[in-house]
Amino acid sequence: MPEFADPFSGMIPRKMTKEELIRAIRLDLTAEEEAIHLYMAHADATDDPLAKKVLIDVANEERVHAGEFQRLLSILASDEDKFLEDGAREVDVMQAELSGAGGPQEELSTQEEVLQEPVEEMEITAGENNTGPSKNIIGARTIGSLID
Ligand SMILES: [Fe+2]
Repeated sequence: MPEFADPFSGMIPRKMTKEELIRAIRLDLTAEEEAIHLYMAHADATDDPLAKKVLIDVANEERVHAGEFQRLLSILASDEDKFLEDGAREVDVMQAELSGAGGPQEELSTQEEVLQEPVEEMEITAGENNTGPSKNIIGARTIGSLID
């Protein structure tokens, strides 16, 4: 929960890098998803028709916000849509398997391809221009991009 008494809560003392912005938007997206869950749980937990209606309406507005953040991520992170499409295709394959339809053999996902590529290690020592997690580099990729 935010610390509303602290006027500096959530403030960052400098502008974010693009990678930091992408991570911040991912957190913003999860906050929208959390809000959707919270409002729907509260709507399910009441019999008051007006409260239920308002909670569901606000939950649906949060779904719109989630869509805005997802679209922003697609613009900021050039590979975002590829990963999302890979995930959607994997679910489609599973759905086809469950329905007995079979379907085409699934190709390796982008993440599986990335994890199979050899990773060249690069040593980062204290005192270098290491300003945070986005600088923890293994080869050309950040650790975060491998564990998303
Ligand atoms: Fe929202």
